[in-house]
Amino acid sequence: MMKGICTSELDYILGKDELTKEDIVFLLKLHKKDDLHELFRKADEVRQRYIGNAVHTRGILEFSNYCKNDCLYCGIRKSNIKLKRYRIEPKDIIKIAENAVNNLGFRTVLLQSGEDDFYSEEIIENIIKNILKKCNCRVALSIGERKIEEYKRFYEAGARRCLIRFETSNKEIFKKLHPSSSLTKNFFEKRIWLIRELKKVGYQVGTGPMIGLPEQKTNDLAEDILLYDKLNINMAGMGPFICHPDTPLNGNKSGTFNTTLKMIAVTRIVCKDIFISATTALQTLNRINGRELALQAGANLLMPNITPKKYRELYQLYPNKVCIYENPYDCANCVKKVVSSVGRTIGKDYGDTIRK
Ligand code: SAM
Ligand code: FES
Repeated sequence: MMKGICTSELDYILGKDELTKEDIVFLLKLHKKDDLHELFRKADEVRQRYIGNAVHTRGILEFSNYCKNDCLYCGIRKSNIKLKRYRIEPKDIIKIAENAVNNLGFRTVLLQSGEDDFYSEEIIENIIKNILKKCNCRVALSIGERKIEEYKRFYEAGARRCLIRFETSNKEIFKKLHPSSSLTKNFFEKRIWLIRELKKVGYQVGTGPMIGLPEQKTNDLAEDILLYDKLNINMAGMGPFICHPDTPLNGNKSGTFNTTLKMIAVTRIVCKDIFISATTALQTLNRINGRELALQAGANLLMPNITPKKYRELYQLYPNKVCIYENPYDCANCVKKVVSSVGRTIGKDYGDTIRK
């Protein structure tokens, strides 16, 4: 490898325009304090140059914890019979969204749930239309795999963003984590196909992996970052895997805060102009200043919870999830403090991504 005189390998890599997979692996393996400082500084510089200082927010409304899937890692998987299930009525979903936009100031409402067919195509379509009738905002969907025809209909109803994670770019690991049944056919290829199709429909698409999954290696994480670029996605939403005791993965180690932070930084350096969120799972691993550190290492997006307090405890995808005892108002205020503490401001516009 060619190196400049007196330039360390790290400086050389950080000075390149395009990184190879080997470069990405090198960066993800950094562990010395000074090196990490340099990595995060570079990511922050790239974020500033390509995205600017605004931090955008999406209010997440977790409207149902019913799920027909049995993903091995997930606390709301169908087979978790310990969990009390809830569904929020469509009319209440609309009211909660209205409050989040018209009173708390959110410009995006992200509707999230398990894969719950109770909410038919018509019901979701009506929810989207009614929210948009009453609120000046974007509607984003995080409702799992549905037919592309349904997603087209939701787009026509006005939804503009979709969040659907690829979970891991390692097909073998994906297969082990997603048991298929006649009802749910979970294949890596199908997930990637859907992500590409959603982009063709016109959605701004967010996706990403969990970090620290059993058997996942640094090489896989580097592939995850390369996959962002291959899919030309708009937003990276990745977080640590956090082991849930009431799942078949009980006893496995969780992902770490540091690896997740490095993933955010390297993704920023590689993908440059996409949006990158500091996720709730990341905040769960470092409640003190996890989001602040992520915002200073390449992230530009926060997703505070707007779910009514009484349901929050029941939407624990992983244990000890943050903000279980808070209400939407608390979270909206908390986020303002986080953003101003790092000298940034909350974006007042819809926060559409630059990447087409
Ligand atoms: N059903 C929709 C879907 O599958 O896209 C949205 C809800 S799903 C619960 C949202 C995300 O939660 C998943 O994509 C997964 O990455 C994450 N998740 C689930 N269990 C987790 C765990 N134990 N640790 C960290 N993240 C988890
Ligand atoms: Fe919920 Fe801080 S974001 S209380």
